[in-house]
Amino acid sequence: MCGIVGYIGKGRAQSVLTSGLARLEYRGYDSAGIVTFNGRATLLRAKGKVADLNKLVKSSATSDSVGIGHTRWATHGEPSVKNAHPHRAGRIYMVHNGIIENYKELKSRLKNHKFASETDSEVLAALIDSFYKDDLTEAVIKALQLVDGTYGIAVVATDNPEKIVVARNGSPLIIGVGKDETLVASDASALLGYTDRAIYLNDGEIAAITRDGIALRNLQNEPVDAEIEKIEADLAQIQKQGYAHFLLKEISEQPKTLAETLRGRVDVRNERVVLGGINMTPSQLRGIKHITIVGCGTAYYAGLLASYYIEQLVEDVTVNVVIASEFRYKSSYIPHDSVALIVSQSGETADTLACMREIQSRGVKCLGIINSVGSTIAREADGGVYIHAGPEISVASTKAFTSQTSAMLMFGIMLAQSRSINPRDVRPFIQELSILPSEIGKLIKNQSKAIAAIAKKYSSFDHAIYLGRGTAYPVALEGALKLKEISYVDANGYPAGELKHGPIALVDDRFFEVFVIPDDELLEKMVSNLQEVEARSGHIIAITNSSKKLAAETVIKVPTKLKVLTPILLNVVQQLFAYHIAVARGNDVDQPRNLAKSVTVE
Ligand code: G6P
Repeated sequence: MCGIVGYIGKGRAQSVLTSGLARLEYRGYDSAGIVTFNGRATLLRAKGKVADLNKLVKSSATSDSVGIGHTRWATHGEPSVKNAHPHRAGRIYMVHNGIIENYKELKSRLKNHKFASETDSEVLAALIDSFYKDDLTEAVIKALQLVDGTYGIAVVATDNPEKIVVARNGSPLIIGVGKDETLVASDASALLGYTDRAIYLNDGEIAAITRDGIALRNLQNEPVDAEIEKIEADLAQIQKQGYAHFLLKEISEQPKTLAETLRGRVDVRNERVVLGGINMTPSQLRGIKHITIVGCGTAYYAGLLASYYIEQLVEDVTVNVVIASEFRYKSSYIPHDSVALIVSQSGETADTLACMREIQSRGVKCLGIINSVGSTIAREADGGVYIHAGPEISVASTKAFTSQTSAMLMFGIMLAQSRSINPRDVRPFIQELSILPSEIGKLIKNQSKAIAAIAKKYSSFDHAIYLGRGTAYPVALEGALKLKEISYVDANGYPAGELKHGPIALVDDRFFEVFVIPDDELLEKMVSNLQEVEARSGHIIAITNSSKKLAAETVIKVPTKLKVLTPILLNVVQQLFAYHIAVARGNDVDQPRNLAKSVTVE
């Protein structure tokens, strides 16, 4: 949430900063700003997107080679130019990602500063200015010692703009170490093309960056050693590559990205799954009797779907799936023979991270199911599985869902293997995982056009109900989430069995109803539910692999060799359906209103 960039080098800071911000825009896009220095500061801020900021840069171009920039997702104060970062206080310019919780108390101490914005961030800038004499690092440390809350910051003082000071606590900050130049970013994607060498700051660390080098300190002002790591992603992965939208690219590349998730882990010939990163022996796996899965949004639904599979695979394990933002208020008891799966595409979601820390503090091992390499959850987890789906840029999550579910399913298979469960029971899962990428590929190749046409037909409806049973239930929830995120259609998912307990009252001409119907043992029950809606003249769309004749207005039939994993495939139909509805409604598909990709505030 909110993107930060910084630059000091030989290049033109304005263009490095704005191109970095464009790559980080998915983290927040209600306003953007940069400040660059060369004897004087050139501050440019715009309400709206980086494209709006670029217009200002065109008319105020400088050749300055130092600067900091920000793209915002509003927390305190509406999206506006005055609330856009960088904020200025005296000799200080600062960009901030996170929330300063005690900003009111700090503000009351800062009588000498005339506040120009409604933000908590400006309070921190003013606090740093109040401590600033001639050592910016020291002033930042003194200020941060008084702060409660989360921050990733980049700060420059106008009287010595040859130094950028950055710090982090709870909001990611990465320093890109290039040749003759150093960059700062809240996400490695802004560094690609400049350098693949990075220092990932830890919480409580501060770095002073000059043309001569980088010096790290902690909040006690003691020196800290910097470790340079290699960034794995490459530039091509964060480009649209001819697709109209990142969302379509990410849906379409699932055969490849899922294959990456499975690579080297699923051994079909020997019917085995090995996840190296979980750091657990078979006897430790055998000891697990309870699993807590934690996530938000799509990651939560992936966890819910995986819970069905894990419980099918292993009889002596209970699985509890929790929404991260609620977990801490529930005081759930977590038994010691547990493991927690912490699911997050970004690896930065504040609620999910807070849950992981809470669970770890209770002595329970946490395994990350993470996409973003080097992210905070990945670094703090006790082990885990990188899903290797590559950067997911579009705000709505698609390829991550498929890979997260598959990664957790692999974990379930390992649990089964550790218990010497009859290989016959595990075989269908291993075999189907291995063909899932190509089944998704076939679906996308053969059915995208037809799904687009169907989506167009339903694009003027403002309400939708998604229904499923068993493994299709989490898929229905995910389908509804996808639709509401990008099309702004009021869509809700329900277990089909709950239809009669409320949702059926909604059925009228303003709604369409999506039935997710895998050809499994629950088929007949779903058919009965479908008929109940049909009898009330519902506009039913059935997504199914069954050849049974269904009384639906529209049937999207997906031929497949899959059985147990069909719901994951049917979800891809939902992704395409939601995408085409959003396009037909003329929405900003990749950056839907009010949302942000990486939610680093609670
Ligand atoms: C945001 C995104 C969703 C995502 C959720 C969890 O709400 O818009 O697409 O599912 O965060 O994100 P995570 O990075 O933890 O998977």
